Amino acid sequence: MKIDTKIIAHRGSKGTRPENTLISFQTAIDEGADGIETDVHFSKDNQLVVMHDETVDRTTNGSGRIVDKNLAEIKHLDAGIRFSPEFKGTAVPTLQEVVDLLIKDHFTGIFNLELKTNKIQYPGIEETVFNYFASVDFPFQLIYSSFNAHSLEILNQLDPQLAGAKLFKTAAKQAKALKKDHMIADFHPDIRWLKRHPFFAPAQNLRPWTVNSTEDMQYCFERNMAAIITDYPARAIQVRTEM
Ligand code: G3P
Ligand code: CA
Repeated sequence: MKIDTKIIAHRGSKGTRPENTLISFQTAIDEGADGIETDVHFSKDNQLVVMHDETVDRTTNGSGRIVDKNLAEIKHLDAGIRFSPEFKGTAVPTLQEVVDLLIKDHFTGIFNLELKTNKIQYPGIEETVFNYFASVDFPFQLIYSSFNAHSLEILNQLDPQLAGAKLFKTAAKQAKALKKDHMIADFHPDIRWLKRHPFFAPAQNLRPWTVNSTEDMQYCFERNMAAIITDYPARAIQVRTEM
């Protein structure tokens, strides 16, 4: 069976490495992932910090909000120890450090950057991210995503050619309206929601998350969806190969 579905590593190889760290992204690339997904916030000094949560509590040995800390303070945190002592001393990366890694590896796959602007407002983060990528010669395919439609609208105004995707849980109507207005190209729905709404959109416009079970992977591969976003890229590659 010919399957075109790309495999995007969610926060890197999150299932087997500390999420959103350089070792997690490097592992995903080494495993053969077609893409990397990650999340970005502003620090107190407006630096682009790669982390999922708004606070550092769950994934590091620190506490408090990213937006209340300068980058120097964030750089002292350990983003590996809570995952496993084996990864003690792993740093929180900046967006630039992640991009540098992808450039060093000549990574030509998908780089899906999620702007985490749905819970905290980070005024100017869209312009900062856009200006950063405008200053870099990168080999990968950049795809923005956000739960926040306004962030996608700002990015679209900055560059109408940019590939943006709406993440959503239940606001499917809003996502469809954005696509109709050409604000976004594709959809990144929750796989649990998508399985209850299988005719929501053509498969080639879908990159669902978080597709971790073999059953869900097969569901997406059978429909030849554009991509899956998974914590286990190596498992997904094996499932895809065996179909
Ligand atoms: O991009 C898909 C997925 O990452 C969205 O949810 O909470 O893991 O960022 P979350
Ligand atoms: Ca994300």
